[in-house]
Amino acid sequence: MKIAIPKERRAYEKRVAATPDTVKKYRAMGYDVLVEAGAGAEASYPDEQYAAAGAQVIADAAMTLRDADIVLKVQRPMNEGEGRNEMGLLKSGAVLIAMLNPYSARGDLETYGRINVTAMSMELVPRITRAQAMDVLSSQSNLAGYKSILDAAEQFGRAFPMMMTAAGTVPPARVLVMGAGVAGLQAIATAKRLGAIVSATDVRPVAKEQVESLGATFVMVESEETKQAQTAGGYAKEMSEDYKRQQAALIAETIKKQDVVICTALIPGRAAPRLVTEDMLRSMKPGSVIVDLAVEQGGNCALSEAGKVVEAFGVKIVGHRNVPSRIAVDASSLYARNLLSFVTLISAKEGGQLSINWDDEIVRAITLTRNGGIVHPQFQQPTAA
Ligand code: NAI
Repeated sequence: MKIAIPKERRAYEKRVAATPDTVKKYRAMGYDVLVEAGAGAEASYPDEQYAAAGAQVIADAAMTLRDADIVLKVQRPMNEGEGRNEMGLLKSGAVLIAMLNPYSARGDLETYGRINVTAMSMELVPRITRAQAMDVLSSQSNLAGYKSILDAAEQFGRAFPMMMTAAGTVPPARVLVMGAGVAGLQAIATAKRLGAIVSATDVRPVAKEQVESLGATFVMVESEETKQAQTAGGYAKEMSEDYKRQQAALIAETIKKQDVVICTALIPGRAAPRLVTEDMLRSMKPGSVIVDLAVEQGGNCALSEAGKVVEAFGVKIVGHRNVPSRIAVDASSLYARNLLSFVTLISAKEGGQLSINWDDEIVRAITLTRNGGIVHPQFQQPTAA
């Protein structure tokens, strides 16, 4: 069978779905691999390396995809209304594996069904031990958390570590991380490595131990409600109005003393919780920096704008889009390995053939469409007009 790796064409996307290293592994499994010319260029993987790994480098997307049985992508293919019809290039019967963003791009599912593409969405991989190597949310959030601190440092007119020099002492930066999930924990670890004094907040009490084990202070409103703040899957729930008021009071007190705030708080399937208000921004020291990693989900911080660095009341608010793509080499490498683990799960031991167990928990969780229709129970209701 043929695996195709087309070039990503969406704005702000530099990642690629396979590296020369994973191409070699697919070849060893018996697959033919077709890579569109330039697919890895922005992630520093030149065509020659793919060719050396055993891929055929093909001049354009149409030729790359024409006979592909399996298509590996980072982002969902563009549809007709988005200026370039990548979906129309997929062959009937192909298996498409990517981050398909089914909650926001619900309409795409009907198209996958109509063109008879089996669409599998990597963000839906369940967070069970067996699937850890396929967990794209973790691999990408981890790097985003790291990069958020570097982005903050770039905007910050001061140093992170304490420095005692002959000319005087530079005080350490104070960093507050909101949301201690995968991205938040890596932001804490990175800020600590740079010598900052770090604190963090979350609504899940289990985060306390993780935050403290990284040497940061945990700041949290504890109440009866927080005992149930975590779903069975480990995600946060939306909190009550009363809790939000108490949390806002605590954050207002804490934030005044911070130099850098990293916002990572998310609630799956909902807008990001608003944690930093305009009044809080006003209370911060001039020259402080906020990095809002939640900006594309509506933002944790008032006034943050997707794709921009804005300044308000002397505070710089960083709202970069697609932060994992800002560290594209490693993000591609980890994502490509996540895909390799999944493709291995659905492949025969040898001969370069798919052998999909449709009853497998991971396969069931991520398959959106199959045999010309939507099969995922969460998405079977028709789209609201
Ligand atoms: P996420 O990206 O959905 O959210 C980020 C963080 O924001 C979470 O820690 C969440 O509790 C927090 N948050 C939400 N609302 C908040 C609010 N109002 N105030 C403060 N913080 C708020 O979370 P992520 O990083 O995807 O992790 C979710 C869970 O999955 C965690 O429990 C994590 O340990 C777990 N996990 C498990 C894995 C496994 O077992 N294989 C792999 C990766 C993560």
